[in-house]
Amino acid sequence: MSTVFIGIVAVALFIAAVFAFWRYGARVTSMPCPAWLAWSLEIDVMKKYGGQTVAIEMLELAPGMRVADVGCGPGRLTIPIAEAVSPGGEVVALDIQSKMLDRLKRRISEKAVTNVTLLQAGAGEGKLAKNFFDRALLVTVLGEIPDRERALKEIYTALKPGGILVVTEVMGDPHYQRLNKVKQLAETAGFGLGRLKTTPLSFALQLVKPD
Ligand SMILES: C[S@@+](CC[C@H](N)C(=O)[O-])C[C@H]1O[C@@H](n2cnc3c(N)ncnc32)[C@H](O)[C@@H]1O
Repeated sequence: MSTVFIGIVAVALFIAAVFAFWRYGARVTSMPCPAWLAWSLEIDVMKKYGGQTVAIEMLELAPGMRVADVGCGPGRLTIPIAEAVSPGGEVVALDIQSKMLDRLKRRISEKAVTNVTLLQAGAGEGKLAKNFFDRALLVTVLGEIPDRERALKEIYTALKPGGILVVTEVMGDPHYQRLNKVKQLAETAGFGLGRLKTTPLSFALQLVKPD
């Protein structure tokens, strides 16, 4: 066997081990996407293949709405959403990592966006105002949250009746959650199922709080 072949196999095994460690570790403790990887969410290709466009479309936004961007990261969705709900609307961008929020803060000042409030907290810690939001989103976040049931219950309580949560999952994400798992968690939290949109690499599911 050539040394090159052994090298390739060793690298592939290493990557698979990191992937598995990250995926299964997140079930028992908080293992968020590290802030130094935030650049990978901001590259152009993520707009099309990273669930961004489809998630925004599925949110069915309108001016004046209040939106909770849960696990906002560096804000690739926060800023277009803030623009879509203007005038009169606002976005609360919640993330567990201060470094992600620092990146978002920089982008907000570059773009002169004035209707975003940053909130450093874990999803499920009860920091979201109750019965307050028209829309919420969890885009490539659910699998990073150790207590998913609690997080979904908090979002359910934070939404107004008729409010919509959009959950987007993208294949290749080490924390990818299967559609059936998302549906089961959502129904346990009290949500009804809304529209589903799939692309070859992602899905976006609307979850509706009953009136
Ligand atoms: C893969 S990034 C996605 C960011 C953003 N939603 C996007 O699609 O660009 C996941 C984000 O969820 C955040 N996160 C992970 N666990 C969290 C938790 N328990 N509560 C709140 N945010 C969390 C991470 O800090 C990270 O910024």
